[in-house]
Amino acid sequence: MSTINFVVPRVVETTKPLDQNHLQHLSNHLKAHNAVLIAHYYTSADIQALAEYSGGCVADSLEMARFGAEHSAAKVIVAGVRFMAETAKILTPNKEVFLLAEEATCSLDLGCPPEDFAKFRAEYPDRTVVVYANTSAAVKAQSDWVVTSRIAVPLIEHLDLQGEKILWAPDRYLGHYVQQQTGADVIAWQGSCIVHEEFKAQGIRDLQVLFPEAGLLVHPESPEEVIAQADFVGSTSQIIEAAARLPHRMFIVATDRGIFYQMRKRIPHKEFIEAPTAGVGATCRSCAHCPWMAMNNIDQIEKVLNQGMNEIHIDEDIIQQARIPLDRMLAFGRTL
Ligand code: 13P
Ligand code: SF4
Repeated sequence: MSTINFVVPRVVETTKPLDQNHLQHLSNHLKAHNAVLIAHYYTSADIQALAEYSGGCVADSLEMARFGAEHSAAKVIVAGVRFMAETAKILTPNKEVFLLAEEATCSLDLGCPPEDFAKFRAEYPDRTVVVYANTSAAVKAQSDWVVTSRIAVPLIEHLDLQGEKILWAPDRYLGHYVQQQTGADVIAWQGSCIVHEEFKAQGIRDLQVLFPEAGLLVHPESPEEVIAQADFVGSTSQIIEAAARLPHRMFIVATDRGIFYQMRKRIPHKEFIEAPTAGVGATCRSCAHCPWMAMNNIDQIEKVLNQGMNEIHIDEDIIQQARIPLDRMLAFGRTL
């Protein structure tokens, strides 16, 4: 399983204020190229503002996949990381799909190379292979199902009810969480998200002493001791929905701090605090901000459109193989 090492880039903040003229200019530029911008919540506030203003979307990884597949634009620009753009390409191979930041990837994807995953899979031929969306197209092509954090628990529950044993990859924390929630028989690859695994249970407890009324919202890529304390566990979109729905006036939020832009915009009457990544044993390699998401820079939009930079290309046979578990994921998502 995963002993893979990789270099984690330094987080570089890119947000700058976008005035109305700039927003309008970039929005016109997108329309002139018949392009739509799809952004993840962890990208900078200016990128999220442009995605909304220009009729694109800001969403979790499941909604990004759905939106890209259903939108009529000929070009899709993904502000996020590579697996998100690859998913858009697999679902709409006739469109031109671009990744705003060429180097933007994910520790889960890097930590699960397709060749090593093939060996892992070969050890457990009787298991149903479920992979998290945060993987390469070549890993998805080897799976029976793809899931995002939004539908991981209901899908594993569904497969468990059919008597299926699960081979899960790559996030060990999410794998452990779905196993606990469903009681399913799960063997998991040992990958992790370098952002979420930094959240510290003790640091959160210390913060809760200072703010006893605050609720705790946690993304399931976080360590189990952090998840165990949560008032709500879910995908990025589900975290925002829960913040609006739950009665607390204040929340400690254990996910990438890029999400605060949408939380404060959509729920202005509540207060949000970053869950701590510091404390005993902390290394704070990312400090609650994904270094790859931070590579997305609004200045790249014109370059991508004008010069056709960073287009996603995937082998036809990989597209065909990966499309099967992705279509299953979307179909299952529609039943919920
Ligand atoms: P969501 O599907 O919850 O947006 O998660 C994607 C991700 O990369 C979280 O780190
Ligand atoms: Fe990957 Fe973690 Fe970054 Fe999400 S936050 S893209 S899981 S490294």
